Amino acid sequence: MEVSEIRKRFISFFKANSHEHQASSSLIPTNDPTLLFTNAGMVQFKDEFTGTSNPKNKRAVTIQKCVRAGGKHNDLENVGFTARHHTYFEMMGNFSFGDYFKKEAITLAWDFLTNELKIPQEKLYVTVHHTDEEAALIWRNDVGIPKEKVFYRGDKDNFWEMGEVGPCGPCSEIFYDHGVKHTDSDADISTCILDDESRYVEIWNLVFMQFEKFKNKDGEIEKKPLPSPSVDTGAGLERVAAVLQGKYNNFDTDCFTKIISRISEISEKEYDKHPQWFRVVADHIRSSTMLLADGVLPSNEGRGYVLRRIIRRAVRHLDLLGVKNTSFYLLVDSVLEDVKATYPENYKNSEFVKKYLKIEEDSFRVTLNSGIKLLNSEMRLLDKSDSNTLSGLKVFQLYDTHGFPVDLTQMILKENNFSADIEGFNKEMLKQKERSKKSSDFSASEEVTKPFYEVKEMYGETKFSGYDNLSGQGKLLKIVPFNKYNALIFDTTPFYGESGGQAGDVGKIIGNKKDILVLDTVKPVEGLHAHIVNGPVELDEGKDYYLEVDRSSREKTKRNHTATHLLQSALINVLGDHVKQAGSSVGSERLRFDFTHPEKLTSEAIREVEYQVNNQIRKSTNISSDLMGKDEALKKGALALFGEKYDSEVRVISVEGYSTELCGGTHVENTSEIGFFKI
Ligand code: SER
Repeated sequence: MEVSEIRKRFISFFKANSHEHQASSSLIPTNDPTLLFTNAGMVQFKDEFTGTSNPKNKRAVTIQKCVRAGGKHNDLENVGFTARHHTYFEMMGNFSFGDYFKKEAITLAWDFLTNELKIPQEKLYVTVHHTDEEAALIWRNDVGIPKEKVFYRGDKDNFWEMGEVGPCGPCSEIFYDHGVKHTDSDADISTCILDDESRYVEIWNLVFMQFEKFKNKDGEIEKKPLPSPSVDTGAGLERVAAVLQGKYNNFDTDCFTKIISRISEISEKEYDKHPQWFRVVADHIRSSTMLLADGVLPSNEGRGYVLRRIIRRAVRHLDLLGVKNTSFYLLVDSVLEDVKATYPENYKNSEFVKKYLKIEEDSFRVTLNSGIKLLNSEMRLLDKSDSNTLSGLKVFQLYDTHGFPVDLTQMILKENNFSADIEGFNKEMLKQKERSKKSSDFSASEEVTKPFYEVKEMYGETKFSGYDNLSGQGKLLKIVPFNKYNALIFDTTPFYGESGGQAGDVGKIIGNKKDILVLDTVKPVEGLHAHIVNGPVELDEGKDYYLEVDRSSREKTKRNHTATHLLQSALINVLGDHVKQAGSSVGSERLRFDFTHPEKLTSEAIREVEYQVNNQIRKSTNISSDLMGKDEALKKGALALFGEKYDSEVRVISVEGYSTELCGGTHVENTSEIGFFKI
């Protein structure tokens, strides 16, 4: 049965059982900064499980794109070495949000596998959590599985959690027996035969969602029961395909056929001769393509760095296969053609994906050879010495000068029976961070923030009154020492605290005897405005004072902030949708806007962007700011920064017909106030 048919059957089966078919969500989890990538089908349903959202239909079925290459679930290191680990894979899942529970989840899964897909019952084995007698009884009595084929396992295998926090619960897994010829004679099966992972493969996980893990205010993880027990299941599409296609190795299914034959064409090598290298490249082109198509861009941090590492590993394996020219991007079509119908939104981005892969490979190839040479000569030296471990400094040089992600260095060392001094490497990284840290006098380190948390605990958040007024009364709550300055906290203030890229306000406080200059306003902890002043403060805590923002500086900052919004829209219009804000710095002197784009801007593009922004300025459009629900704002197409935690009520700044953004900053009332814009 071809993989496209398996997808169809899964969806129709669960639709026939009253499940609503929902599209896969993006590989970038929406509004969930706790997760690197979407790593399971349940990720998009987190709110349904925790009871935050109450869907009309309490049953859903999906085919979800997943990446497990970082964070809690990370399969990167296994790729190529095993028959069934992937950085990218698809997960078929059915879900119940407080509707059915264990019995129906178990019987539905069994029915689908044995009646719909006709997998012979005798090939299947199951596990349950060691405390879950209820599930074991359902398997034995309702399904009729012999007692000796139901195994009990502990938390490590049978308690599922998506990440450090989030919904979780005990699970029951279904295994397929690939037959005695695949037995791993080294596996320790003394406690459970299923520990022979070569022979027995988990094909479906049924999670009985009962708890939610969360961080309490002391930063510790706690567990609480979910409002209503739910079900989250996941069956790896590639593994099910292997079973149905009579293959042992996922890479031998039709999920990979086209990709592998394309690698063979490009490298003029045979798959059978270099299976491991082929598999690494085949796996990595799928994850790289799908990640890029979902908008993850290679970078030096976070998910972008995971992508960069995957691409670089792949390029190194292409290099091993003798491919010396930029070629990784040539594999993109073989991935996207197959998923055209399933993920049309990704197919649309194929040119964009190729462009990025090409640039990324080109830049890595510049240093690849010199890095390999360096590593080879280091390994020759190690060979002659008593040590098997490459020093942290060398690992760092390979990283810093040659662009070798540390796992790539480790992989090459391991292939040659060496290892890397990771602790030493981390020390070098730390030293580099120290060197490049431009610590601002007004920025708060952890020990500095503690007293601010105490103030917030005692008085709550401070109120910002400065959208409409540049001056006003505020009660002085506390004077807190702050590095070599003092920070004054008022219950209400017209001073904008640095956030969202916009600089903090400067101005003065009308004092008892003399005025006090405010050098900056920052938020050392969320929701608390701290006015930074120099020298001793002759003010009384508990008393009201008059606060005055420096008008000229605020006006200039406002112009720059609104111009930043216009700039973002102009960049998207001129360069494309892939432009995403990556940071910004808006002050009274200038604005800076960081964004994602693979190339240097041409002078034509710069001119066009300037032209569009100035055109908007000349149009003299009024700016509106509205408070609304976050979901409503996002539905309206408001641009938001990914990873930023927004409240459920957000402020939306619109320049009609041109720009809509979530923003807490201060803005001009009419675009004409900006005057002129120049890059
Ligand atoms: N969330 C579970 C898993 O990933 C079931 O989908 O295994």
